[in-house]
Amino acid sequence: MSEDWAGSLDLHVDLQSGGGRRAGLERAVREAIRDGRLRPGDRVPSTRALARDLGLARGTVAEAYAQLGAEGYLQARPGAPTRVAGGVALGDGMARGGEAWSGGAQSAFAAPPEPRLSLRPGVPDVGAFPRSAWVAALRRSLQSAPDAALGPGDPRGRPELRAALAAYLGRARGVLADPERIVICAGFTEGLALLCRVLRGTGALAMEDPCFAAHRDIAHAAGLRVAPLAVDAHGAIPEIPQDVAAVNLTPSHQFPLGGTLAPERRSAFVAWAREHGTLVIEDDYDGEFRYDRQPAGALQGLDPERVVYAGTASKTLAPALRLGWLVLPDRLLEPVLAAKLNSTPALEQLALAELLAGGGYDRHVRRMRQRYRRRRDSLLARLGGRRTLGIAAGLHVVVEVDSEAEVLARAATNDLALESLQRYWHRDARFQGLVIGYAAPPEHAFAAALDTLADVLGIT
Ligand SMILES: Cc1ncc(COP(=O)(O)O)c(C=O)c1O
Repeated sequence: MSEDWAGSLDLHVDLQSGGGRRAGLERAVREAIRDGRLRPGDRVPSTRALARDLGLARGTVAEAYAQLGAEGYLQARPGAPTRVAGGVALGDGMARGGEAWSGGAQSAFAAPPEPRLSLRPGVPDVGAFPRSAWVAALRRSLQSAPDAALGPGDPRGRPELRAALAAYLGRARGVLADPERIVICAGFTEGLALLCRVLRGTGALAMEDPCFAAHRDIAHAAGLRVAPLAVDAHGAIPEIPQDVAAVNLTPSHQFPLGGTLAPERRSAFVAWAREHGTLVIEDDYDGEFRYDRQPAGALQGLDPERVVYAGTASKTLAPALRLGWLVLPDRLLEPVLAAKLNSTPALEQLALAELLAGGGYDRHVRRMRQRYRRRRDSLLARLGGRRTLGIAAGLHVVVEVDSEAEVLARAATNDLALESLQRYWHRDARFQGLVIGYAAPPEHAFAAALDTLADVLGIT
């Protein structure tokens, strides 16, 4: 039986539903408050009146009111009528008849619909994530891990992963890596944030112009001033202002313009850091992906006491892993650990250690290198004679255009997500361009994405 209370209050009480009569009444009052039928300050019927109207014992109504009072929905004062409490969130967003949050008509978190195709940079082909190898690595590593792996553990990260990374980084990237000086963090994002916290108060951070915009935000959020470093086809130009305490570089493949740092500039940055007692942060985000020759080894190999090497699994495997690593100069280990307030999830670390040690990581990188090289070749062929910037490396290419806004508008009407260069510049754009990420689409959608790009750019 369902009854409507026929007073001024539109209260739908289902006395038959689970939990008994008292629970049914409580649910109905909660719902009326959330729906806005009862508003803060409104009087609710007296226990006597409501009990009479609903055919309930007065004690049942009193108990329901007491419960709703304890939950903060109602406010009872001696000698005064019971009212709806102030500060109860009203909304269209709470689902009627249930406790579930429906998201409402205009949730602040509602993402706009994604275009059907995407050539945005920053994301690898996550469809190729080696799921089976990962699950096998996780199972094997968890079976053999000591119980201590499930405790709070070493703030630097799991020793298995630090040892596996030290071997891999030495072999694949020429990094001089001592496992004791490696700190595992939640991607480069956390690594940079930690370094920025440590650098606060020592001077500005010089960052390439253009660079990944979110990295400037991280520096600003840590209270650092950011000084722009001009970039050309040979990477960042080592003209460093006076008050700079550290420079953040992408030496193997400048992000986003795509040059590799010229040998004399590599030496110049390291010499600057030695001379001034300052620091170079080497963001080696896609150092594994070079297509025309062996990649240049890491800058860190030139001076591990002046260069922090930073790597990530976000391009080789998947950004969702949130796994990155810093190889630190001795003097920075303690300050970075002091700034690191949270440790990095251990089970993913164990799985990655196992994947590295068993050769699965190398195999996956080799496979993806071939795939991305093929994609890059197809993209350049589809772009016809259009001038592109950058070496044969990584997961993106920059193409100059006359008007970013016009191209983006055309792309939107063609259901293609593209990214312009605009937000990468510190202040003034030197030219207009697109940062085309060729890794993101799944294999089956890649050709369609290229065709649409060609249409959008007016290439026949
Ligand atoms: C220049 C650059 N560095 C590093 C990263 C990786 O960041 P994270 O390891 O936090 O995913 C990205 C990701 O897009 C990037 O563009």
